[in-house]
Amino acid sequence: MSEFVRAIAVTDLAPGQAAEVEVGGQAVALFNVGGTFHALSNRCPHRGGPLGQGFLDGAEVSCPWHNWTFDVTTGENVADTNLCVPRHAVKVEDAHVYVKIG
Ligand code: FES
Repeated sequence: MSEFVRAIAVTDLAPGQAAEVEVGGQAVALFNVGGTFHALSNRCPHRGGPLGQGFLDGAEVSCPWHNWTFDVTTGENVADTNLCVPRHAVKVEDAHVYVKIG
């Protein structure tokens, strides 16, 4: 059954930043785009690079390994929208970001 799991304090991920977090045994890439949080699988569909270590520019993150770029709001690769990273639902509660796993 899927459930929201506490991932990080809101104050630990400033606007424009990305982070890798372990949530419910899964590696998740979290992004703060202008105060709105988004979560994707941390695993790049190219060769598994850690998207949470990528460079966030607006709503686009570049994988740190070979620079494939994804829209963090949709999970789609900006050059080929058929390539997608799985997304996780996110909510903010009690000054923490929660990610839905499962
Ligand atoms: S592993 Fe992400 S671009 Fe190659």
